[in-house]
This record gives sequence, structure tokens and C-alpha cells, in this order.
Amino acid sequence: MWRYFPFLPIRKKNIISLKEGGTPILTAPRLAEKLNIKHIWFKNETSNPTGSFKDRGSSALVSKAKEIKAKCVIIDSSGNAAASLAAYAAKAGLKCYVFTPSYASGSKLIQAAAYGAKVVKVQGTRKDVYDMARLAHKKFGWFYCGFQSNPYAIQGLKTIAYEICEQFNWMPPDLVIFPVGTGSSLLGSWKGFTELKNIGIIKKVPSLVCVQPEGCAPISNAFQKGLEELVPINKPETIAEGLMIGYPIRGKQVLKAVKATCGVCEIVSDDEIIDAVKLIGKLEGLFVEPSAAASLAGLSKLIRNGVIGEDKKIVCMLTGTGLKTADSYSELLDDTLQIKNEPEELDKIMKN
Ligand SMILES: Cc1ncc(COP(=O)(O)O)c(C=O)c1O
Repeated sequence: MWRYFPFLPIRKKNIISLKEGGTPILTAPRLAEKLNIKHIWFKNETSNPTGSFKDRGSSALVSKAKEIKAKCVIIDSSGNAAASLAAYAAKAGLKCYVFTPSYASGSKLIQAAAYGAKVVKVQGTRKDVYDMARLAHKKFGWFYCGFQSNPYAIQGLKTIAYEICEQFNWMPPDLVIFPVGTGSSLLGSWKGFTELKNIGIIKKVPSLVCVQPEGCAPISNAFQKGLEELVPINKPETIAEGLMIGYPIRGKQVLKAVKATCGVCEIVSDDEIIDAVKLIGKLEGLFVEPSAAASLAGLSKLIRNGVIGEDKKIVCMLTGTGLKTADSYSELLDDTLQIKNEPEELDKIMKN
């Protein structure tokens, strides 16, 4: 992403990079046929160094931490941001503490620990985890890298929009679909698209679509009910752990971005998310985590309900790899065949 360096507020000598960004944009003809649409692309953020889009934010955050000579970085996270920040802190030689809720996937926390971070599990809700990290920031002066409030995260994330525009030869698609928790990827992209429009490189900002899970949809609920204020979700419940943000601090800004770009907000069930995981795996050879598949689940629903027309050019964000949450999909092995180590047993496969 640092090829866009002149647009990023960091001095060159302070850049901490693991070669994040530059992620592929993939056509998906088999899926398009299945959904009855003409043009769909996936922006495959799973190919970032730690497996999620968070690496763009972490690279900018840790570079800034180096610039201001911070000694220790901290974050509250359900897992991906924790693992990501830990990797960049390791590269920069900084200490890293990650505060996580009890439900965070073990493999994400193991990943963070492997990069040398100290993992701190906090009892209570996601909001309690945030409050604890903020307190540690206040008490010890550690550099707080929460994606919701540290603006350098958004600076890194805006490169998603730059890349999409460049990959579409500066004629961006009609719609970009995001799975939303705090809204950092949507807001970062809004900033990126808007900057390019303001300097005349693109003519129009694409419509931004926010997808949230039924069990935690404060932003989409407000949009669909026409409310100006968000009603917090006290007990979020969904398989999409990255989207369990009951109190998105910048939720109203996400609403503003969606409305300003003539986008929409959708709500999907956990079953629809799992169906999307299977669909994208079987038809396009991509393995994503539930939080990522929510974008495709939302898109399918919007097409089914006639909200998005079949001829629109659509980019769907795939935000994180499925390898870290593989345990959520153990049912996929339910019809595994067991055979004895004998040649005639192979016939069972054909019968099956
Ligand atoms: C894989 C994945 N997708 C989407 C999100 C939601 O991103 P945001 O909080 O920027 O809306 C997260 C957040 O952790 C995530 O891990």
C-alpha cells in the first residue's frame, strides 16, 4: 500500500511494512451466474500478510508509533486486529498488549502471541474490553491503536479505495459491499474514494453498502428504521465475531457515508452467512471467515429482494481468511467417507 506513500501522513524513514495491500481483485463468473447478475468482483483482503484487511491499518498505526517514538502499542480487538497489530509491532521492535473478549477465536490469539504480543482476556462485553484498553492507555501512556478512534487506521484503510480505483482503470464500480462492525473499512474507503474524487482522478464515489448480522446490527437497524440515533446492542450474538460491536463509536458516520453515496444497509442471519461461506468456497475457491462472508450474504439478499439490479458493477469485500475460524465450519466434514485400507473399499466412493 506504500506505493501511495505521498497520500499517507507518515515520514518515509518510519514506514513499517510487511508488504500489505496490493491485494487481488478477482472476477467471479460462476457466482455471478448463480446470483443472476452480470458483474461481480471480490477484493481479496485475505491475502494480506496476517490474513485480513487490518494489516493496512496496522502498518500505518505502527509506522506512526515509531514516528512518535512510542515504546508500546495496545489495542482492543476480537482477534484479527490484535494479530495484525502484534505482527507489525514485532517488525518494529515495539511491545504490544492486546485486550480481547473471551469469545475471540483461539487461533487469532495464538497468532498474536506468536508475534510476541501479550494477550489480555477481559471478562464482560466487547465494550468492557474497549474501556479496559482505553484505561491502560490513560494509566500507562501506551499508544492506543484502536481502529475505531485512532485516525491512522483510517489512513491505512483508505488505500483499499485507491487500489479498487486503480484496478478499475480509474472508473470505479457502482457499488462496494462491506461487512461492518466498527465501520473502519467502510469509512476508510469512503475517505479514499472521496479524496480521489476531490482531486479529479475519479468522477463518482461508488455507493457504499453496509452489511451487519441479525444479532448485532445497530447501524443497519437505524438505517432501516429511519432513525438518526443508533440504539446500542447490549448482548450481541452472532457467528461473525468481528462484527460484534454493539456500540460502534463512529456508527453515525457510517450512516452518513452510506446515505451520502446513495448506498444501503442490510441485515443477514448467521445461516445466510454460513450459506455464503459455502457458496464462495465451492464456486470461486475462496475460504473466508464468517465476518467476511457477511458481505456476500448481504449482496445475495439485496439482489433477491430486487434492491440491486442485475447490471450493476459490484465489488464485494472479503475481509478475512477462513483458516483462523475453521472450527466454526466443522459440519462441513459431516459427510466425510471412512474406508478401510483395502482396494475394494474404493468402490464405496463410487456408490456414495
Ligand atoms: C474479518 C473481518 N471482517 C470485517 C470486520 C469488521 O470491520 P470494521 O470493524 O472495520 O467494520 C472485522 C473486524 O474485526 C473482521 O475481523
